[in-house]
Amino acid sequence: MTAYGIIGTGHMGSMLAEEFIRRGAINREELWVSNRSQEKAQKLARKLGVRAADNLKVAERSDVLFLCVRPVDLKGVIAETSELLTPEKLIVSVAVDFSLRQLESLCRARAARAIPSVASGKGLGVTLLVLGSGASEDDRSLVFRLFGSIGWPVEVAEEQLEVLSDLTSSGPAYISAILREFALEASMRGAGVDKDLAEQLIKKTLIGTAALLEDESFDDLIAMVATRGGITEEGAKVIEALSPEMFRQLFSATSAKHRLVKDRIGNVEE
Ligand SMILES: NC(=O)c1ccc[n+]([C@@H]2O[C@H](COP(=O)([O-])OP(=O)(O)OC[C@H]3O[C@@H](n4cnc5c(N)ncnc54)[C@H](OP(=O)(O)O)[C@@H]3O)[C@@H](O)[C@H]2O)c1
Repeated sequence: MTAYGIIGTGHMGSMLAEEFIRRGAINREELWVSNRSQEKAQKLARKLGVRAADNLKVAERSDVLFLCVRPVDLKGVIAETSELLTPEKLIVSVAVDFSLRQLESLCRARAARAIPSVASGKGLGVTLLVLGSGASEDDRSLVFRLFGSIGWPVEVAEEQLEVLSDLTSSGPAYISAILREFALEASMRGAGVDKDLAEQLIKKTLIGTAALLEDESFDDLIAMVATRGGITEEGAKVIEALSPEMFRQLFSATSAKHRLVKDRIGNVEE
């Protein structure tokens, strides 16, 4: 039996625990959880019927250990448990700004990085995966199986993780932010459209659009609606003209923040 551990039962750690158990990827009796404020881990353990303990015990018991704390807390968690993180164990970090090199320099365990999305909580999230040099083919199969149970795992180059996580991990927030503005503007056009109604309608439209996009490319779907010389084409032209600058600024802003977080974490491998 493989034993699994999750250190950090905040948003991501608790979502992974719940979904892995609910979808049968991990059995209840195989999972241990811990958290800095222990009552949070105990509450989750009671809810899921798994076991809660402190970081050391969870690290000791686990063959596969998910590290689900924020990047600034990760170094401390690994320092606390490093003696137990032997080459027989696989650690899987979900922290965006903590490199494989840093993970591998702090302990002897095999390492992988996995960046899921809140959409994984609906079984529909992309998880970006990067496997360390010590990870085996069995490790690759295992992480693909686990994250495959909650959506679509994709192995990527580590240097692409930052940009791609803007698309997949931050994506649900950005898509929501854009559509919220779209609905708000509709409610301000002077036609008496209620803002909540506009939001409900655009949410339903998003769900329908997502279903269509299972089969259609963006270009084909745009062409299906924005017929030549029609009204939608006028709106699509505005988006094409104005959004490149918005997305350029978005990536510049997130890139600057990634640099800041990395500076705060420091060069831990040195
Ligand atoms: N949220 C997302 O959509 C998302 C997506 C992809 C990746 N991630 C990554 O997931 C990680 C966690 O993010 P989150 O959103 O889940 O943050 P969060 O809700 O703040 O959860 C972090 C958890 O870590 C616990 N913790 C902190 N230090 C600890 C320690 N020394 N020992 C044990 N537990 C400790 C915290 O406990 P307390 O209750 O005591 O504060 C908290 O419950 C981050 O690295 C983030 O980059 C998040």
